[in-house]
Amino acid sequence: MAYPDLRGFLDDLGGDLIRVAAPLSPRFEVAALLAEVQASGRAVICENINGYPGRRIVGNMLASRRLAARALGTTEGRLVETYVERSARRVPPVPAKDAPVQAVVHRQPADVGALLPLLTHYEKDAAPFLTCGMVLARDPATGQRGMGIHRMMYKGGNRFGILLANPPLSQFLANAEASGKPLDVAVALGVDPAMLIAAVVKTGPLGPDKMDIAGSLRGAPVELVRGLTVDLEVPARAEVVLEGRVLPGVREPEGPFGENTGCYFSNTSPVVELSAVCHRRDFIFPALVPWTADVDTLLSLAGGAELLGQLKGLARGIVDFELVPGTSSFAGVIAVRDCPRHEVRRIIQLALVLDKRLKSVTVVDDDVDIRNPREVAWALATRFQATRDLIVLDGMEGYVIDPSSAGGSGSKMGFDATRGSGPEFDKIAMPSEAIAMARLVAADLFQQGKQV
Ligand SMILES: Cc1cc2nc3c(=O)[nH]c(=O)nc-3n(C[C@H](O)[C@H](O)[C@H](O)COP(=O)(O)O)c2cc1C
Repeated sequence: MAYPDLRGFLDDLGGDLIRVAAPLSPRFEVAALLAEVQASGRAVICENINGYPGRRIVGNMLASRRLAARALGTTEGRLVETYVERSARRVPPVPAKDAPVQAVVHRQPADVGALLPLLTHYEKDAAPFLTCGMVLARDPATGQRGMGIHRMMYKGGNRFGILLANPPLSQFLANAEASGKPLDVAVALGVDPAMLIAAVVKTGPLGPDKMDIAGSLRGAPVELVRGLTVDLEVPARAEVVLEGRVLPGVREPEGPFGENTGCYFSNTSPVVELSAVCHRRDFIFPALVPWTADVDTLLSLAGGAELLGQLKGLARGIVDFELVPGTSSFAGVIAVRDCPRHEVRRIIQLALVLDKRLKSVTVVDDDVDIRNPREVAWALATRFQATRDLIVLDGMEGYVIDPSSAGGSGSKMGFDATRGSGPEFDKIAMPSEAIAMARLVAADLFQQGKQV
């Protein structure tokens, strides 16, 4: 089933949506609450925002694989398979019949901060930041559409800084600046989570239109309407759309900003001036707190699932891959089956070269649960010897937001924590009949509300 929009998704969540009636400030308190309850794996809607009567903020929409599976209308077990299948198909957008997002329009907005409950997340953040804006633009050279999540720092009035570190939008701006022209952008806020996932699918600079991938991931074409002050089409069923221009040749300090790496990051970045703020009458404002489970899920699908597909095509024995939560996709774990030592070493090198962000990868056998940090640590503790099983690659391309990657260069490493031969490498286990029986008894105890 495809959700028509974000609110369609939220309406369907039932017990997977926590409602918060307590008054919360958009400065730190909403972010702190979302971070605090992320482990529940449920989405959260804050219904009482200080200074913004009647406005609601939704967050933790992708706080668990369960929510991501719901967003794609599949099961947790089929999540990666569904993502891989659908991200390879294209469902182009269609013209919208109506445009709820343009119900209220503020042209030349003088004070965007008064209109929208912009969130400040971390203690040393320089200002409120938009963290889940799906930024849309067209290549002035080819007319090709592009989109991505690009964080934006609120600078007061109608001005935002924008981090354009990745293609295609970084390239579009370079093309606009080459002829001294501004770049029209639209920022869609509060789109359904499947569309947000599509915004960060890795396509490379000349990749397909991510709007077509969004249509396929969400199971129905995205409905687009013409922007009111920019030469772009925008998602008609978003909650909020900002329209504006990136100023040519302008760079200003941006940050510090508590990044998805879990570190503060500052940059010198382009500037956007808004020409319009459009929103639904009762818009729901979206939050995505950096360095939380939401980010892990986005990266796991758009980065991890992608790399798994590539690796499976290049090496044999690969069963699964997952990025380590909280590492901003700098660390990953691969599970293999019946994989000889030389093949494990090849897999490590392939993974580290194919993904520019991946700095370390651990390979384990498939008797280890790669989503359980305790089990991965156990494999490293018992099946790995540094002099024998460590691979280091030096002089590799670094990644801009990695604070340890000096001057854009970095090194990478791989751990072969697969089992050797012999019974001493067996993982201890209890008989499956005893485990099955224990699960029944435990489920019964939980149902009765008893403590175990
Ligand atoms: C949570 C999140 C936040 C992101 N923020 C930014 C950003 O602020 N600036 C940027 O240039 N790219 C950012 N990206 C990456 C882009 O959205 C990019 O389009 C996407 O990852 C495509 O990858 P590719 O460049 O490898 O094709 C972010 C990605 C995620 C998952």
